[in-house]
Amino acid sequence: MDYFSYRDSELWVEGAPLRKIAEAVGTPAFVYSSAALRDNLAAYDKAFAQVPHLVCYSVKAASSLAILALVAKGGRGADVVSGGELYRALKAGVPAGKIVYSGVGKTAGEMAEALDAGIMLFNVESEPELDLLSRVARERSKKAPVAVRVNPDVDPGTHPYVATGLRESKFGLPPDAALALCLRASQDPALEVLGVDCHIGSQLTSAAPFAAAVERLAVLVGDLSARGVKLRYLDLGGGLGINYNGESPPTPAEYAAAVIKASDGLGLTLVLEPGRSVVGNACVMLTTVLYDKNVGGGRPRFVIVDGAMSDLLRPSLYGAYHGIVPVRKTGAPEIKVSVVGPVCESGDFLARDRPLQTVVPGDLLAVGSAGAYGFSMSSNYNSRTRAAEVLVDGGAFRVVRDRESYDDLTRGEHF
Ligand code: LLP
Repeated sequence: MDYFSYRDSELWVEGAPLRKIAEAVGTPAFVYSSAALRDNLAAYDKAFAQVPHLVCYSVKAASSLAILALVAKGGRGADVVSGGELYRALKAGVPAGKIVYSGVGKTAGEMAEALDAGIMLFNVESEPELDLLSRVARERSKKAPVAVRVNPDVDPGTHPYVATGLRESKFGLPPDAALALCLRASQDPALEVLGVDCHIGSQLTSAAPFAAAVERLAVLVGDLSARGVKLRYLDLGGGLGINYNGESPPTPAEYAAAVIKASDGLGLTLVLEPGRSVVGNACVMLTTVLYDKNVGGGRPRFVIVDGAMSDLLRPSLYGAYHGIVPVRKTGAPEIKVSVVGPVCESGDFLARDRPLQTVVPGDLLAVGSAGAYGFSMSSNYNSRTRAAEVLVDGGAFRVVRDRESYDDLTRGEHF
């Protein structure tokens, strides 16, 4: 169900008009729907109900404590990639025993923090990383729970920056090297080999690459079993795409059907690390029109807004499409405009050559599909204070992250 919809001519989220939120909180602001978040998480549990599984929400997609608390309340776990994300997940109430730690560059300090917390699984990506983890575990008289990340060399058919399971990518190990590493780890008293793992990319719009990856992992699981290494977890990473601009990615149910079939008979608990498909379409970024800059002479017409690449980087970084709609439909004619922010770069745009209702300064716009890798990739570039985050639940809304102040901006600086 889409929780963002027009009533009369005004855009609402759940039972709250977005205009009211903007008036109370200011712009730019990221506004999340709790109902959408709950639905999207529930869709995974429903889709995988027939097999043992754990949904570990990928914290990097949107990391605010309120979102993580909502994830934790539903009994789900978290996928983290830094000490900071681990800190956030624990602080929000995600049990350590439901946290998986991914990423190619874990430091000794981060490993120690995760071991002390008692996380469920380290997804190890290289031999030197395994060696370091073993040393850190020994020093702390702990046994580190390990899965080895496999690079299955599968093309996810996505933007090259977010394709992670191709042989040239920095992630994971080819199956033969992963096998050797699992065998080595199984001999190490400081390590407990519990699984294999993969994450082949993000914003996938077909289930076939997922199934192909799982089939390769299944072969590895069989080889390990034949050598006496019995696993508990098959971690499939995240990656399911969402509809930004007419894409029709598989539903969690279709995705589940494909990967359950490919992993059938292995008897392992499936670990899922969805990020984008949980939060992407559960949020809009509200922004206010500052100027309509129309110099004529065949030049682009710019709608200059108070949201920028520092708030939502995806259009600038990936050429990503985000729908932009007026918070109030006026019936004014649509014209082709580029929606740009105040940052001093020509790469600072939210949309280019897009039909948009004619706007005037002060009008509110909603930038769609902004929940995943929106606020979490925002920055203070141009010394802009970062946006507020708002969580809506029914007709109620609350600020879950304050808009930054100038004090926040210079915190920790010395001169
Ligand atoms: N697990 C691992 C190990 C990951 O690296 C990622 C995302 C996920 C899970 C979650 O994937 P998702 O379900 O969200 O596709 N900034 C980019 C996306 C980067 C994804 C990085 N890894 C963007 O805005 O498109």
